[in-house]
Amino acid sequence: MLDNPGVFGYTFGMKILLISSSPRGEKSVTYSLAGGIVKGAQAAGAAVETVHLAGKKLEFCSSCEVCHKGGMTCPVKDDAPGIIMKMLGADGIIFATPNYINQVAAPLKTLFDRTSNLIHCQRLLGKYTVSAVSSGSGQNTPVDDYIGYYGRICGAQSTGAVSCGPVPQEAALKEAFALGGKLAADIKACTIYPEQVKEMETRRRFFSEIIKRRKDAWDGEYRYYCEKGWLS
Ligand SMILES: Cc1cc2nc3c(=O)[nH]c(=O)nc-3n(C[C@H](O)[C@H](O)[C@H](O)COP(=O)(O)O)c2cc1C
Repeated sequence: MLDNPGVFGYTFGMKILLISSSPRGEKSVTYSLAGGIVKGAQAAGAAVETVHLAGKKLEFCSSCEVCHKGGMTCPVKDDAPGIIMKMLGADGIIFATPNYINQVAAPLKTLFDRTSNLIHCQRLLGKYTVSAVSSGSGQNTPVDDYIGYYGRICGAQSTGAVSCGPVPQEAALKEAFALGGKLAADIKACTIYPEQVKEMETRRRFFSEIIKRRKDAWDGEYRYYCEKGWLS
């Protein structure tokens, strides 16, 4: 953590970042649902910072591969690198998104696409994610699963998900509050979810082979794997 303080600086205590991706900003149903998680985490002692992707400048990944060559540098000058630094500085991340055609909303997918180096190098190792998803139908399992998957490929374990229909009912808000508490508890206890860790280890072995083969083109990632002792 100390080599990557992000926006939280070197303050002590639990730091949780909420990334809310609805274009409706503070009027978003999903943001209200995520508010339950925030309250639960705060009640357990966490400091929470919120980033609304609405209004942020987020360009598409151009697949230039600069982030694979030189560590985490990205030549695109927009808001993504700053948000990624906040992710790196947090102990836990809440991803809130409306269900758009059984996927995350485009701004969040655009941010995810900009984190290729986080994925290859599992830079979110030791962190935990949760998701909050809302939709017209209330059927959000594919989106919950996708966000959990995204976190794991970056090295973060998933604490869980909460979802709702077009209105966050009391029961969903209660569930969200409990999930916020669980997220804080996982961070405090450094909880291990064995199946998730196994999945991450398998993926790291897979990437170590690719990175070895591409060590000249992806020299930044190759060096990172060497430093971590991840090359077999
Ligand atoms: C482009 C678009 C795609 C959507 N796709 C789905 C969908 O596949 N299934 C569903 O149940 N609701 C779908 N919805 C409805 C939204 O998920 C729902 O209104 C959500 O609660 C909006 O959340 P927000 O207020 O946080 O933006 C879609 C809405 C939009 C605008």
